[in-house]
Amino acid sequence: MCQLLCADTESIRVRPWLTAVLLMCGSLFATSATAFEQYTAHGGPVKGLALSPDGRWLVSTSFDYTAVLWSVPDFSERRTLVGHEAAVNAAAFSPDGRYLVTAGDDRTLRIWKMDQLLDETPAPVAKVVTGHSAKVVHLTFSADGQRLVSSSWDHTLGLWSVPAFEKLAFLSGHDGPVNAAQFTKDGLSLYSAGGDGHIRLWDIREARYLQSPVENGWGINVLAIDEDLDLLAYGTANGGMRSVSVSGKGPSVDYVADGPPVVSLALDPETELISFGNSEGRVLIADARVGEIEHDFRAVEGPVWGMVLMPQRDSVLLAGLDDFVTRIPLNRSASPAVAGGERRFHRLDERDNGARQFARKCSVCHSLEADGKRRAGPSLYRIFGRRAGTFSGYPYSSALARTELVWNEATIDALFKDGPDVVTPGSKMPLQRIPKAKDRHDLIDFLKSTTKQE
Ligand code: HEC
Repeated sequence: MCQLLCADTESIRVRPWLTAVLLMCGSLFATSATAFEQYTAHGGPVKGLALSPDGRWLVSTSFDYTAVLWSVPDFSERRTLVGHEAAVNAAAFSPDGRYLVTAGDDRTLRIWKMDQLLDETPAPVAKVVTGHSAKVVHLTFSADGQRLVSSSWDHTLGLWSVPAFEKLAFLSGHDGPVNAAQFTKDGLSLYSAGGDGHIRLWDIREARYLQSPVENGWGINVLAIDEDLDLLAYGTANGGMRSVSVSGKGPSVDYVADGPPVVSLALDPETELISFGNSEGRVLIADARVGEIEHDFRAVEGPVWGMVLMPQRDSVLLAGLDDFVTRIPLNRSASPAVAGGERRFHRLDERDNGARQFARKCSVCHSLEADGKRRAGPSLYRIFGRRAGTFSGYPYSSALARTELVWNEATIDALFKDGPDVVTPGSKMPLQRIPKAKDRHDLIDFLKSTTKQE
């Protein structure tokens, strides 16, 4: 019976409740587990992934303020791209492969030339202050490469000319954060997904809102369109993994109706595969043409923030909370294994309040070792007695590099009593305070015992 239902893809297109049956079938069919591979380069959660048009380069972007360039298919780490002053959320390659653009919490675009990326210490050719008043979370080029769009949590989309990277317009109309966007093939229209639950369609030449082809009760986090396949796929904050017809004439497919937020989506027009990732590590991969689920598994611990489908159904690459890029081969007869990547947080000793403070509030950005340059912040190795802004090799903000401050019990205490904005104004350390004196003292005791002071 199971086989019959699974083969009956037409029913699945029109009757979403069959999804559950299909999932059961999937697990019955699973015979062997496929191994996964994990690549480490970041010192913080990985937020985005982008594959170059020629398939030779992968870029991952991270909470650790950097992007990393990897060569494909060996996935060896080639360069760390330093420049952003906060988490890097998104990267996009221009379709001609000449430019890479990155963007993040610092609301800037950094423009990198591909032919300079393998320089010893690659630097962006331009820094563009976007004028967005909140973080930029997504970037997309038009197919002809002449336009770029930035999606921001300030409720707008920025429209940029390429290669000048000059602002042409802000598209406003979303009543909430804008999470993602994609141009139509002719570059004349743009679809955008917002926290207001709308997918909005825009006229690009007039920078004008046209209509909302999708209105969902909950926010829409991700979208992908393919006009040849006649589908507009999206993932929602209440767990919906869906596609509807762009022309309005084809069927809608409800792969999953609800659950934890869907936070990533990839569509490969060549293989016609579509892949959704949610905030609890679930990955669902389907044949987009017939609406049939091929894989549905828990891939990693925590959210799958970024995803790339590799050509020819070879594998899926996942970015997530665990600091790794995880590659899972896709073999129809095997069910992929779960990558249990342990976060490289400081190990937590629940009995020690100082250790707990550090693990929860600092370790995602700071290591305690001499070789700790891969985190968003500098290593705190030998912090006591160290002049601020002097850990060698770390790209400090000029504010911290200039200060005369020396770190000791009193100054570290003040840093978290009054906040970095008061103690080190202009610093790129995010605003945070630890209001309870006991927590600050325990944290300082912990740092004293672990940072190897002289
Ligand atoms: C989200 C990331 C992040 C978190 C969380 C964070 N920091 Fe930082 N921290 C930074 C960054 C980035 C800098 C460098 C700032 C600059 O260059 O302006 C920094 C700088 C510092 C400095 C100055 C170091 C130096 O070499 O001058 C100290 C001390 C510090 N942090 C301690 C802490 C402690 C203790 C915690 C936990 C209570 C913490 N930080 C949490 C990102 C973070």
